[in-house]
Amino acid sequence: MAKHSVQNSLLVLNSVIDRYNTQARPVSNNGSARVLQAELDVSLSDGGAEMAELEEMALHYLQINPDVSSAKFNKLLYSGLNAPALFGDWVTSISNATMHTYQVSPVATLMELELIDQWNKLVGFERGEGVMVSGGSQANLIALLLARHKICPQAKTQGIRDRLVAYVSDQAHYSSLKAINVLGIGSDNLISVASDEQGRILPEALEKAIKASLALGHKPFYIGLTAGTTVLGAFDPVAPCAAIAKRYDLWLHIDGAWGAPILFSKKHRHLLADAQLADSVAWDAHKLMNVPLTAAVILTREQGLLKEVCSGGGGDYLFHADENAAYNLGERSIQCGRRADALKVWMSWKAIGNNGFAEKIDTLQQLKADFVALLPSSRFELLHMPSYLNVLFRYHGDETLTEKAHKTICIDICTALKQQNIAYIDYASCKGRSGIRLILANTNIEIEQLQLMLEACDAIVLSLLTERDYSRL
Ligand SMILES: Cc1ncc(COP(=O)(O)O)c(C=O)c1O
Repeated sequence: MAKHSVQNSLLVLNSVIDRYNTQARPVSNNGSARVLQAELDVSLSDGGAEMAELEEMALHYLQINPDVSSAKFNKLLYSGLNAPALFGDWVTSISNATMHTYQVSPVATLMELELIDQWNKLVGFERGEGVMVSGGSQANLIALLLARHKICPQAKTQGIRDRLVAYVSDQAHYSSLKAINVLGIGSDNLISVASDEQGRILPEALEKAIKASLALGHKPFYIGLTAGTTVLGAFDPVAPCAAIAKRYDLWLHIDGAWGAPILFSKKHRHLLADAQLADSVAWDAHKLMNVPLTAAVILTREQGLLKEVCSGGGGDYLFHADENAAYNLGERSIQCGRRADALKVWMSWKAIGNNGFAEKIDTLQQLKADFVALLPSSRFELLHMPSYLNVLFRYHGDETLTEKAHKTICIDICTALKQQNIAYIDYASCKGRSGIRLILANTNIEIEQLQLMLEACDAIVLSLLTERDYSRL
């Protein structure tokens, strides 16, 4: 067998998986980049290497990377392991298909179309469309691009002459800021609208901001709501904002990168009520659905628009006018080469089913409620009433502590939790206040583990307060 053959790679992969013991490792043991650079030789050379050498590096890679599959990984909006999706990902890599034309990706094209149908059904778009993208950031970019096209169709060929203005809440993900820059609209033209205590956009403030732009002679064109904000997990109210969008003839987008899967759950889907009133929706499968990165979609209520806006070029050599031309998803995309992400999403959706995803959300929502119920008997308090799977909490023992002191305590607690291998968790600031941000995305987490974490937080904060004078901060 050739040393670099697929068969040999699979044998080595098996060996790596056998040797990689997630039980024996901490959830995160990474430290300074400089120390790692000194310890780990990642240099390339003129000569080749044996698979044995690659096997050792693969093992180091897994051992040093945070263990995202661990129930103690509570840091980001994804965690856990979705085995059917992983299987799909491996098969995708073997096929190395690209999604521009049906000819080179026949099965994945049909799968992507089926996924888009299912996503649209959940959102409530009766005749919707969509295309898979690299993530929520690209989905938000495409939404802005579609909105720009609606108000200013000549922008595609001639650029923008008008002063276009978009609106998102002060809790929106930073990807909108990046997108507005990429689209040449300019970051000064992304207006940050105030949100309430729970992090939901205030419709009155939104309308006021639109009127202010109009008074300046600017052209409002886009409202970007968020379903599941990054820090607080808040859901912006769709119906009142849709009424505003209609009144001023603006595009209404919902960034559901984190929160849109709530639509699987009959019990909790009310959080994203009226999603069908939007013009577009972003949905990440690589967050709550635990599909390996990257897997996401941009959905649109109107058919044909994606192609109208995103197509251009390639007709002379790639997009042939054959019987399958209508299946060439590349014309709906801003990418040329695009990985067949549909396969892993399809595999896991097929294996888990709508009911399985609904159950996952219901279980995690219950876990969240159980954790919140533990807080009153601890030294910690909520910074908001969580509606979704983000819980921001902090030490409440001393009212004289400054914000800087609170933030420092949060950082020190997170560091200690990581060092003691209790949890890999982060802190975040919102509305001028800092807290520890617990993200619940993994159904392997049990309430007993969260209780232990909270008890550890109690003990850590007590010892920190004796070791360090936070009142000086
Ligand atoms: C609300 C929201 N939108 C968009 C994004 C960006 O998603 P992605 O990382 O898939 O580009 C994030 C990432 O955390 C997010 O929280």
